[in-house]
Amino acid sequence: MTAKELRQKYLDFFKEKGHAIIPSAPLVPENDPTVLFTTAGMHPLVPFLMGEKHPKGKRLANVQKCIRTVDIDDVGDNCHNTFFEMLGNWSLGDYFKCEAIEWSFEFLTSEKWLGLDPRRIYVTVFEGDENAPRDEESVRIWQDQFTKAGVEVGVTDEDKIVNDKKRIIPLGADDNWWGPAGETGPCGPCTEMFYDVSPEKGALNGNFENLVKNNRLLEIWNDVFMEFNKKADATFERMKQQNVDTGMGLERTMVVMNGKDDIFDTEIFHPIVRKIEELSGKKYGDEENQRPMRIIADHLKSASFAVADGVEPSNVERGYVLRRLIRRAIRQGKILGIEDNFTSRIAEVVADIYKDVYPELEREKNKITEELTQEEVRFRTTLEKGLKKIKEIIAESRKEEKISGERAFYLFSTYGFPLELTKEIAAEHNISVDEENYHEEFKKHQELSRTVSAGMFKGGLADAGEKAAKLHTATHLLLAALRQVLGNHVIQKGSNITGERLRLDFSHDKKMTPEEIQKVEELVNEAISKDIPVKCEEMTLDDAQKAGALGVFGEKYGDKVKVYSVLDFSREICGGPHANATGELGKFRIVKEEASSAGVRRIKAVLE
Ligand code: ALA
Repeated sequence: MTAKELRQKYLDFFKEKGHAIIPSAPLVPENDPTVLFTTAGMHPLVPFLMGEKHPKGKRLANVQKCIRTVDIDDVGDNCHNTFFEMLGNWSLGDYFKCEAIEWSFEFLTSEKWLGLDPRRIYVTVFEGDENAPRDEESVRIWQDQFTKAGVEVGVTDEDKIVNDKKRIIPLGADDNWWGPAGETGPCGPCTEMFYDVSPEKGALNGNFENLVKNNRLLEIWNDVFMEFNKKADATFERMKQQNVDTGMGLERTMVVMNGKDDIFDTEIFHPIVRKIEELSGKKYGDEENQRPMRIIADHLKSASFAVADGVEPSNVERGYVLRRLIRRAIRQGKILGIEDNFTSRIAEVVADIYKDVYPELEREKNKITEELTQEEVRFRTTLEKGLKKIKEIIAESRKEEKISGERAFYLFSTYGFPLELTKEIAAEHNISVDEENYHEEFKKHQELSRTVSAGMFKGGLADAGEKAAKLHTATHLLLAALRQVLGNHVIQKGSNITGERLRLDFSHDKKMTPEEIQKVEELVNEAISKDIPVKCEEMTLDDAQKAGALGVFGEKYGDKVKVYSVLDFSREICGGPHANATGELGKFRIVKEEASSAGVRRIKAVLE
């Protein structure tokens, strides 16, 4: 089965079950500073899981491109990726456990759909803890499903020994409580489906965890029952509605459907692996080459998609993640003996594989080539010396049994070695890195505030939401001011907020003059100084339009919309959240005005 067929089957199945199909959201979340990347299909749906009405209804499904770096150290084995596609279906306060599990089972096993063997399916459920009880309901529903299919089904004992009679495994929160995607937000117990990928090895019998570790059982799908909201103080509250959030891994399901046991052995990786073989003159079939080839293939695929969605390598936030991915791939290339610049050549292959599904790769081809090549050239100027230096440092650090943070920081600042790369090379020489001390060093150099490993914001995530709300209100004021100064042809083309700044793309075909920029700043600051309350009203889309509210994402809206207004100055249809009054915003300043694309300008601005 091809990836194309699998995506289509999934969407067709859920369409039959009354789901509306929604597009894949960008990898860089819009207006949400709690995560760096879209890590799951549910992420762009958070407001709707929390109770906001979704215009397409209560049943949704899609194929979502995701970047997830929590498993980055596992990349190199047969089944882990940082970039992957997630097939997902959602109930927003509509159906719950019964239908979710029944449909998962039907899609997997029915001859009309995937036609997988139910005897090779094993499922985990939440075993309960102080926050929520054992998920008896899911156990019962699974028992019904298997029994109807004529498959014996028992629950494992304490020892978690699974076999053809015991295929339901209760596990704790580490395994069977999903979310939130960031520090706060929707979450709940989940049930995961695993498939026996090597029945030819004889009857399955053994400890569940070992069977997963040894790649006998492969996780393919996760149904989450999202009924809790995790708050900033780490407590859980029950949400207004009971939701279902599921995610099926496309790459892994491809493995299962094609009778393989390696995601890199499927059509969405084959051409990349072949290109790496060609560039290195080595064979994927030789075991020692597999790990480096897999890391290169995965990381440069992620990097291509990240750049296509607007990320550039840097030392902070998602730019840092991108830098890490590219530099790690380059070093793995070196291990394979690739000495010439090669990253953009892999990116070309990636674009070719996905051109029909994700045309942005083709559209942004030049940008991807440019960013990857620049980063590669930059890193290669110091790589050789850095590798020599790290060997010396490792030798010198043997006595202390770890590399000091100061030295690790030196490798970063002088040779461009991200901490994680230093850690990886150190681990290959059986030595660790003093990370705490590294972060102290970093802080001393005033860059720590937003590195990924240390959390994203100086003030912690609790007030990230508040900052984002203020920047969001400022974005509304900015758009209103731009229309006053430049004219009503100005409409919003895009917006993105981090904890630090806002970014607004808008239609206008000329560079703004310094006078225009100044005038816009003045208008916004005037509105702020008047400390006007930000008013929110719910009304029909029709009434909102009659009231002159600006709306930018037409088809996202349902029957009722929220209109946020600041007196007559600004009135926009929007989901929020916002500051309570403009006075909270502080001083508004435009830091950059530049071209974004043809006929579209981009402003970056901050609140001080
Ligand atoms: N959000 C769930 C996951 O990513 C479905 O596993």
